[in-house]
Amino acid sequence: MASPKYTIPGTAQPFAPVSAADASPIFDATAGVVNGVRTVNQVLAQSQAGAVMDELERDLIGLAPIKMRIRDIAALLVIDKLRTDLGLAAAAPSLHMSFTGNPGTGKTTVALRMAEILHRLGYVRKGHLVAVTRDDLVGQYIGHTAPKTKEVVKKAMGGVLFIDEAYYLYRPENERDYGQEAIEILLQVMENQRDDLVVILAGYKDRMDTFFRSNPGMSSRIAHHLDFPDYPQSDLLRIAERMLQQQNYQFGPGAREAFEQYIGYRIGQEHFANARSVRNALDRARLRQASRLFADRDREYTAEDLTTIAEPDIRASRVFQIAAAHKPE
Ligand SMILES: Nc1ncnc2c1ncn2[C@@H]1O[C@H](COP(=O)(O)OP(=O)(O)OP(=O)(O)O)[C@@H](O)[C@H]1O
Ligand SMILES: [Mg+2]
Repeated sequence: MASPKYTIPGTAQPFAPVSAADASPIFDATAGVVNGVRTVNQVLAQSQAGAVMDELERDLIGLAPIKMRIRDIAALLVIDKLRTDLGLAAAAPSLHMSFTGNPGTGKTTVALRMAEILHRLGYVRKGHLVAVTRDDLVGQYIGHTAPKTKEVVKKAMGGVLFIDEAYYLYRPENERDYGQEAIEILLQVMENQRDDLVVILAGYKDRMDTFFRSNPGMSSRIAHHLDFPDYPQSDLLRIAERMLQQQNYQFGPGAREAFEQYIGYRIGQEHFANARSVRNALDRARLRQASRLFADRDREYTAEDLTTIAEPDIRASRVFQIAAAHKPE
């Protein structure tokens, strides 16, 4: 799409607005901004991006470095909007990202919020998120990959394409792997359609680093690398309390302490997955609570009974038995 070029009086440099549609109602080459927004607060209020950022701050426990990076990216977009309104923006900034971190550290959750913020700030038209893995992009047979990848890209256009475990796209042991074909199409789209599609590559940090080393083209198109740390125990406990609250439950006497202990043991056991493990543990505690209440057929339960996770609902977990079995004498 050819966007009209404007020249700011007194500068030799021609500037193109991000898109013609953005520029036409508010831009006047001689008078500057006619009815556009001029302050950061005006942009945040008009776009309601401020509300989404506040929600992110409130709903997500911990993740301080991630929240800071998102604020930085939002700041860039807001200032870019102000620049565009004055005819100063030259091109859409590249916003493709990588989200690295262990399972359950909040990558998918943050990507969803990111899509919403990008939408509110007018960077993408729709703000939806299409989450895929290798199998959604790469075909089994010759000629199947290109149409598959293009179909996914089409679905994601106007929003965020979230590729989980992105390193599986690249199989160095396979000389002519169809994954390479998907990567090439993605590279093109990431370059040519970056004003309406943001690609987020997600996965384990070490594997992603290897992937980027083998795919410098991909690496150079990623503007923001966000590294999701494992949650400290204190955050996991707060995440648990937040999750319970959202589902209208609470810990009864001693249950919070039991869950704190549970987390301490669970972290050291197999397949630990941060906040996801917390969610699963709470789901099982709710099952046990239900069985406990179900057993007493004639009792009239109060709201408190029905919303309380009791200490035994937590302590019945296998995690405590495993920990006891492995305890050094
Ligand atoms: N900081 C947080 N505060 C509250 N809840 C969280 C937080 N981080 C993650 N969760 C919750 O934990 C669960 C797992 O998070 P999410 O799916 O975003 O992790 P992920 O990094 O994408 O994991 P995976 O690598 O397994 O896909 C979700 O239910 C999410 O709502
Ligand atoms: Mg995920």
